[in-house]
Amino acid sequence: MNAMPAPEQSSLDSLFSPTHIGNVQLHNRVALAPMTRVSATAEGVPTERMRSYYRTFAEVGFALLITEGTYIDHHTSQGYLFQPGIANAAQCEAWRQVVDGVHATGAKFFAQLMHAGSQSQGNSHINTTWGPSAVRPKGEQLGMYRGSGPFQTPQEMMGEHIGQVRSSFVNAALLGRDAGFDGVEIHGANGYLLDAFLTDYLNTRTDDYGGSVANRVRLAAEVCADVVAVVGDDISVGIRVSQGKVSDSDHRWSGGEDDAAVIFPALADTGIDYVHTTEYRSLEPAFADGGKTLAALAKQYCKLSVIVNGSLDDPRDAARMIASGDADVVALGKPALANRDWPMRVRTGQPLSADVPASLFGPIADVKDWEIADPRIMD
Ligand SMILES: Cc1cc2nc3c(=O)[nH]c(=O)nc-3n(C[C@H](O)[C@H](O)[C@H](O)COP(=O)(O)O)c2cc1C
Repeated sequence: MNAMPAPEQSSLDSLFSPTHIGNVQLHNRVALAPMTRVSATAEGVPTERMRSYYRTFAEVGFALLITEGTYIDHHTSQGYLFQPGIANAAQCEAWRQVVDGVHATGAKFFAQLMHAGSQSQGNSHINTTWGPSAVRPKGEQLGMYRGSGPFQTPQEMMGEHIGQVRSSFVNAALLGRDAGFDGVEIHGANGYLLDAFLTDYLNTRTDDYGGSVANRVRLAAEVCADVVAVVGDDISVGIRVSQGKVSDSDHRWSGGEDDAAVIFPALADTGIDYVHTTEYRSLEPAFADGGKTLAALAKQYCKLSVIVNGSLDDPRDAARMIASGDADVVALGKPALANRDWPMRVRTGQPLSADVPASLFGPIADVKDWEIADPRIMD
């Protein structure tokens, strides 16, 4: 095991102070990042395995959990076979069991609502994929989720399709609230549908949804406003934003900070409670010319709660992000898979493992038996 030494405790205090996102109180600043684990039934119904998996993170100190990307309708939104959905009563009811398990620990739970767009590589409802334009994503499908070869070229969405997607997000948000989630996170990142609209080379439209940055962020902002209108009084609403994509990790907004100055206010003006930024290296400047991180830009232009994610393995980096005021909560993906008790270990000064066991990702990245065997044994 590659171990990281334990840092001085006092430098980490910022991670363990309480905060809130909208009306949701958090007992510390450490969240589990959304991670697709394809462990639902073939019909997208969450399972007992998922209930144990999520509860484990909550039991060992994560104040906030964000679900894996969860598909929102029985049409084009599903991205992966065995991905959970939040599109019908059976899925909602099964999520309620998962949510109850997390709530029993005192942690809070947000559902990530996802339309996979042209990065869909496994959909049990339809073979077509949708995108802003008929432009094939770069790269290849992910083997750890049963994909291979290039992505499909998506069908260009018409106005009625855009309306359909907006309704699906609203329906899923209502089901999320009914399942007992404390919040919903709209997936506007990583190359999925809303991010594809934002992306210059994937969106070649000439209508109100294409061309300028203001037009390309329009659909994400409309979805945020729609969701806030139906559930915003009851639960927290936020959006995840990134530059990189599953299909193109190096992508950058071509207008740099000028784009950020349009994108973040357009999202904040919808009444959402938070923005969740994710970058491969979240501590580095967002753009090649130096300057601020994407999280700091989100804070500057949104003035909302910010969750920051990306390579925050070292607790000192995570604590600095909070202490700087650029972010309110840190979300951990791979560091949490490597150390399911990351908050407890950091709090009590124990060393951290730097590596995720390779068996977790192969041959399929589903939840493994050892992940749910005993929540407190972390070797
Ligand atoms: C196995 C796996 C599955 C992921 N699935 C999702 C997902 O469903 N939704 C999402 O927004 N990001 C997803 N991500 C990205 C993570 O949330 C996170 O952004 C990424 O791992 C970088 O953060 P880290 O350095 O803390 O791992 C996934 C990452 C991994 C490793």
